[in-house]
Amino acid sequence: MAIRLVVCKDYDEMSRRGADEIAKIVQSKPECVLGLATGSTPCRLYEYLAEDYKAGKLDFSKARSVNLDEYKGLGPDDDQSYRFFMNRELFSKININIENTFVVNGLEPDEKIACGELEAQLDEYGPADIQILGIGENGHIGFNEPAEQFTLRAHEVALTESTIAANARFFEDESKVPTKAYSMGIGNIMSAGKIVLLASGEKKAEAIEKTMNGIVDPKVPSSILQLHPDVVIIVDLAAASKISTLK
Ligand code: PGA
Repeated sequence: MAIRLVVCKDYDEMSRRGADEIAKIVQSKPECVLGLATGSTPCRLYEYLAEDYKAGKLDFSKARSVNLDEYKGLGPDDDQSYRFFMNRELFSKININIENTFVVNGLEPDEKIACGELEAQLDEYGPADIQILGIGENGHIGFNEPAEQFTLRAHEVALTESTIAANARFFEDESKVPTKAYSMGIGNIMSAGKIVLLASGEKKAEAIEKTMNGIVDPKVPSSILQLHPDVVIIVDLAAASKISTLK
């Protein structure tokens, strides 16, 4: 099986292991392309990267990055946008050239233009050397929600109710959560040289079991990762608690 599983004792260790995967790439290939993710899960990982940079262990001056997704309708100055998140959590704390970081433009109302720009950026940079992923409780990766079929290219997504409910914790109330997003497609994600999926907490345990041991099914988008040649799933004990092959 192509998926390598790393079980960590807690969120902090999971984050350190994830940061190590990125650090290895940045050190061996300074002009690497990083595929980045937002959400609560990678926050500590980004702190570790910033600490490593400060300690002189990492140099991001030649690195480039592309993010998975962005809420449609939110601009870079909106503190809930993913561009704002990336600037705050990582880009402002390391020496990456902000011109070399790409987050799809949430303020572009036209799906074709927004997604065309994301595809063009991926073409220009080439496949990510490493793609960081969180996972939704429903198995979504990026904003690829459960569906009848896999959508391969960048596209506009109508967020599912469970995703809107899960993201409501970041907003004043649920009615403020955007209902649409632009996202890389499954094919974009799968073209990365290496994929590192992180999950912490009991709520993710079922999705992790299905990702690793379920059938490959667009109703669990993360299950497609079974077909990628180089995937590392890094989980804490709670997120590992339902993995049938560990029992
Ligand atoms: P989370 O989100 O890291 O905030 O749990 C992950 C996701 O929904 O992909």
